Amino acid sequence: MAAPAEALPDIVVPAISDTDDERLWVPQTDCLSFRPLCLCVSQGYYVNLLRFVGGGTLGCHRHSSPVHAHTIRGTWGYKEHAWEAQAGTYVFEPPGETHTLVVGEEEMITLFHVTGALLYCDPDDPATVLGFDDVFTKLEKARAHYEHVGLGADYVDQFIR
Ligand SMILES: [Fe+2]
Repeated sequence: MAAPAEALPDIVVPAISDTDDERLWVPQTDCLSFRPLCLCVSQGYYVNLLRFVGGGTLGCHRHSSPVHAHTIRGTWGYKEHAWEAQAGTYVFEPPGETHTLVVGEEEMITLFHVTGALLYCDPDDPATVLGFDDVFTKLEKARAHYEHVGLGADYVDQFIR
């Protein structure tokens, strides 16, 4: 019944969105923080919770690879699309999609499974890449934050596979 000897250990996070420990949220912008759940450096993807407080946007970006999202609370959408995600909404973002995330004022928490790179683009010229996030930038930000707040730089290691 046991896993094969070569299998990686599982990751179990008992309560992903209900935590009183603010230190677990890694600040990314004024209104956006994230909580890593799985940082898969071997396959180039990450699973994290994004949390917006007070509404906001995540600038124009292009996905090299697929994204899966499951909304836990709040509302969000993309400037380029008419739909609005609410608690319970699942969204598939196909590779090649370029869009601008817009979030309502109510606290928003969504689980995003992101493969590959999220390329930040110039909204006036989306072919111009201004920066990027991937599993490695997420890992670096989380490690620095957890060290800064006293959890220790190695706190993030439990999420790496
Ligand atoms: Fe996106």
